[in-house]
Order: sequence, then structure tokens, then C-alpha cells
Amino acid sequence: MTLGLYAGSFDPITKGHLDIVQRAASIAGKLVLAVFDTPSKGLLFSTNERLQLCQSAVAGMKNVEVAKFSGLLVEFARSINANFMIRGLRNITDLDYEVAMLMMNRKLNPRVDTIFLYTSQEYQSISSSLIKEVASFGGDITDLVTKDVAQALKSKLSAQAQ
Ligand code: COA
Repeated sequence: MTLGLYAGSFDPITKGHLDIVQRAASIAGKLVLAVFDTPSKGLLFSTNERLQLCQSAVAGMKNVEVAKFSGLLVEFARSINANFMIRGLRNITDLDYEVAMLMMNRKLNPRVDTIFLYTSQEYQSISSSLIKEVASFGGDITDLVTKDVAQALKSKLSAQAQ
């Protein structure tokens, strides 16, 4: 069975990420959605919160599993025997950064390649930062995230405001 690995910070996971998850899950036998376990400095949600939000977002997808990882992504890929890694592209601007990561990852572990998948048009201009900013000013982000993420953003941002 081919094992795909889709990693990111997911702070928080958006419908843009989920669009990539669905596309990746349709080409991989099994997909691991891996949350980067990085010190929460600069991130809104803790690793466990990001993990839980990812788990609830993919709850209906049978061949998708959620995990967390720390350290080098290629080492995690090796530890789970991933056949390939997935990265989502939203626009041509993403490409420079993504190719730099691909080349570095390939140098570190030539046996695990990266596949790029292009996101749907409606999610081309969103990012987790933009969603957090809009939510912090009370803007409507309900089309762009799951209900659980919208609720978590509301609670987190109102707790921060106190
Ligand atoms: N839809 C919506 N937004 C998307 C998206 C999509 N399809 N694809 C990417 N994004 C956004 C994310 O929301 C995020 O936005 P933000 O910066 O505003 O938060 C941004 O694009 C990048 O996010 P993501 O794809 O999660 O990447 P990342 O930079 O947060 O994570 C890791 C990258 C974790 C995979 C990478 O840092 C890594 O591998 N780290 C481990 C250490 C390592 O191996 N380093 C060497 C790498 S060569």
C-alpha cells in the first residue's frame, strides 16, 4: 500500500489544507497528516490543539491518519516508511519556496520524493495567518474552516483578548 505524508504547521487547519488532504487521500493507499510539533512560540494553537483540530477535520476520511512529528520531516518520513510527501500549491509564488524545500529534503533523503498538488480555486488566496487575522477582527471565516476550527478560533481569540 502506498503511504503518503502531508505535513505542516496547521495553525489551524483550513479548508484549503483539507482540499489537499482529499486529493492526496485519493491517490495514496493511506495518508498521514502530520502536525509539526514545534514550540508554540508564534503559533496560536498548541501542538495538541492543532492535532485535535486536524483529527476532527478528517474524522470521516477512512484512509487518513493524524500524527505529530518533531525534527526533520524526512526522518519522520523514513520512520513511518512513507513512499512520498505531499505539498499543496496555491499559486506560482508558493513554488520557489516549495522547490527549495523539495531540493533540501531530496538531498537529505533521496528515497522519499515530493508530489505537488494544486488547490481548488476558492482556496487559492487563503492561509492560516490570514484566517487568524480576519477572525481576530470578528470577520466571517466560516466558509474557510470547519465548524470546530471556527469555534476554537473564537474561544482562543476571546480568551486572549481578556
Ligand atoms: N490552502 C491554504 N493554505 C495553505 C495551503 C493550502 N492548500 N497550503 C499552504 N497553506 C498555507 C498555510 O496556511 C501556511 O500559512 P501561514 O504561513 O499563514 O500559516 C503556509 O501556507 C505554509 O504552511 P504549511 O504548508 O503548513 O507549511 P509550514 O511552512 O507551516 O510547514 C513544514 C512546513 C512543517 C512541512 C516544514 O517546516 C518542515 O518540514 N519542518 C520540519 C523541519 C524540517 O525538516 N526542515 C527542513 C525542511 S527542508
